Amino acid sequence: MESRGDNGRRGFVFQVTNEINGIGLGLRYDLATELLERRPKGVSWVEIHPENYLGRGGRYAEILDLAREDWPVVTHGLSTCFGALEPLDEDYANDLRGLLNDLEVPWHSEHLCIGAVNTHFFHDLLPLPFTDEAVATSAQRICEMRDALDVPIALENVSYYAPQAANGLDEADFVLEVLERADAKLLLDVNNIYVNARNFGFDPEAYIDKIPIDRVVQIHVAGHLVRDDGIRIDTHGEPVPNDVYRLLEYALRKVGPVPVLLERDNNVPALEELLAEIDQLWSIYEGATGEKRAS
Ligand SMILES: [Fe+2]
Repeated sequence: MESRGDNGRRGFVFQVTNEINGIGLGLRYDLATELLERRPKGVSWVEIHPENYLGRGGRYAEILDLAREDWPVVTHGLSTCFGALEPLDEDYANDLRGLLNDLEVPWHSEHLCIGAVNTHFFHDLLPLPFTDEAVATSAQRICEMRDALDVPIALENVSYYAPQAANGLDEADFVLEVLERADAKLLLDVNNIYVNARNFGFDPEAYIDKIPIDRVVQIHVAGHLVRDDGIRIDTHGEPVPNDVYRLLEYALRKVGPVPVLLERDNNVPALEELLAEIDQLWSIYEGATGEKRAS
């Protein structure tokens, strides 16, 4: 285990992340066969949505087993958003706990948002109001999940498109309050910060400056759509733009070598194109953190 002692940060990171580091890729079904055949060196770990694998056998179980031969697996949930007001689904939590235990994940992440009301799923990640009440309910849900799953819980900051009430917290302060109240970890999505910053006119670097770096366990990076009217939409369907690469570099210089995931869920290109983006991410990662990819 490496401990550089420059700011105490790196030793802490390696301890928390259980040696998961460098650049990862989402293990999406459409890509899995080629990814598992080629097992490219640039991919150091993979992320899954547990909803795609829980209770499923056949090819899904096979993909997960094959992936685990070479890669650590991190889980990122889509269905148990922290803003939910309904009681935690204990049956689902039990099933999820079993999967996380099998995979020996270092943490489990979900989004700081609302994804369903009374079991009606929106199939979207809708923002919470940035209020003290939402801080309290979200923090409570994170604590409940940590107890139920018995792993550290990381929240992910989301993109949104409706302006918040003027008398609420600003986004970064809202995220910070939930992190502190729940004593949670952070999955820092730099594309989501960039999209929100451009749509609502705030400084994305100032947002990152507020983040308590010792809570960051993982970073997401992705591309987004720019509409003709200039509004940016978090599609995960475009290449990562240079401004998001630059924000990633800024974050890595502050946070240190936490694992970075390339998210690509729509308009998925040939694996070769994603591997070129992963090369670019490695260049930024090595430059910003001093860490080197395995040769
Ligand atoms: Fe993300």
